[in-house]
Amino acid sequence: MKILAIESSCDDTAVAIVEDGRKVLASQVMSQDDTHRQFGGIIPEAAARLHSDAVHSCLQKVLEDSRLALNDIDCFTATLGPGLVGSLLIGATTAKTLSLMTGKPFRGVHHLYAHVCSNFLQSDLEPPFLCLLVSGGHTQLIHVKSLSDMTIVGETLDDAVGEAYDKVGRLLEVGFPGGPAIDKLAALGNPKAYPLPIARTKQPYDFSFSGLKTAALRLVEQEKQSLTSDAQWQTVQQNVAASFQATVVKTLFTKTIKCADDLGLNTITIAGGVSANKGIRKQFEEWAENTPDKQLYIPKMGFCTDNAAMIGASAYFNPITDQLDYEVFSRG
Ligand code: KG4
Ligand code: ZN
Repeated sequence: MKILAIESSCDDTAVAIVEDGRKVLASQVMSQDDTHRQFGGIIPEAAARLHSDAVHSCLQKVLEDSRLALNDIDCFTATLGPGLVGSLLIGATTAKTLSLMTGKPFRGVHHLYAHVCSNFLQSDLEPPFLCLLVSGGHTQLIHVKSLSDMTIVGETLDDAVGEAYDKVGRLLEVGFPGGPAIDKLAALGNPKAYPLPIARTKQPYDFSFSGLKTAALRLVEQEKQSLTSDAQWQTVQQNVAASFQATVVKTLFTKTIKCADDLGLNTITIAGGVSANKGIRKQFEEWAENTPDKQLYIPKMGFCTDNAAMIGASAYFNPITDQLDYEVFSRG
């Protein structure tokens, strides 16, 4: 079954063609970062306009790359939510129009369910598993019992990890989005330069990152007072980035492993934009190497941040919906 998928929930326009939920035949992502960087965050009106400009060329490119025609496609799909409404409507309307033109079905997809499904791409993953979902808007531990039975067992009580990265990125003046820039800086700094707090939560699998963000803010303000050169500011940037990242990695890793052990799960997956983070990948990969009875799945780099291949996988595996607001996960 060949599915043509469109993702436009936030600030990336993406189109992909996926066969049987796992094989990516073509995938295109056009980033809007250059526009939003000037404002230090996403401007919804600009995002919707840019999706409208980009979706047609992405569509043409995936058809060319896969050497398929619209009539070869068995199903059209798009993200219906959650996301920015103006942005979502561009992808949904385009996919529904293609469905009407060709007489093939349309399926709507939930963006977070799709991030969970990103680990099915180019892999042999099967439930049950524990998914650590870390994106710009969400930080959740999801117990995936089956494709239609997923329970959130832990989540952030305040900021999402990606949000914390982006806010600390602003403090460190590294531009938007902060995540990839901090990841690069962290590799150059000393992770033990500054001790930063790991928040305690009442429920063991919940997260909290607002205290860490505030501690980083105080630290940067304090260090800025005694700066005498650009070189010194660079060292502060690198050391704050490395210390912040080390604290995030430790928090995510410790809670995820404990949760998987407590639930008796041998397979862990990581998904969402922050799963592109080198520090997080390294920590979990080392764990997987040292525990051969456990399995780890992290998407290939192009399928961590928003992409349409995961939407195509999701439409194949997903309970179907055509509503904008529905609960795809239960709460445990
Ligand atoms: O999944 P995603 O593309 O969009 C949402 O659904 O939110 O995630 C975007 C988030 C941003 O906060 C971005 O800073 C973060 O993922 N991110 C990273 C890295 N690459 C992207 N965070 C840390 N390290 C990275 N390498
Ligand atoms: Zn996303």
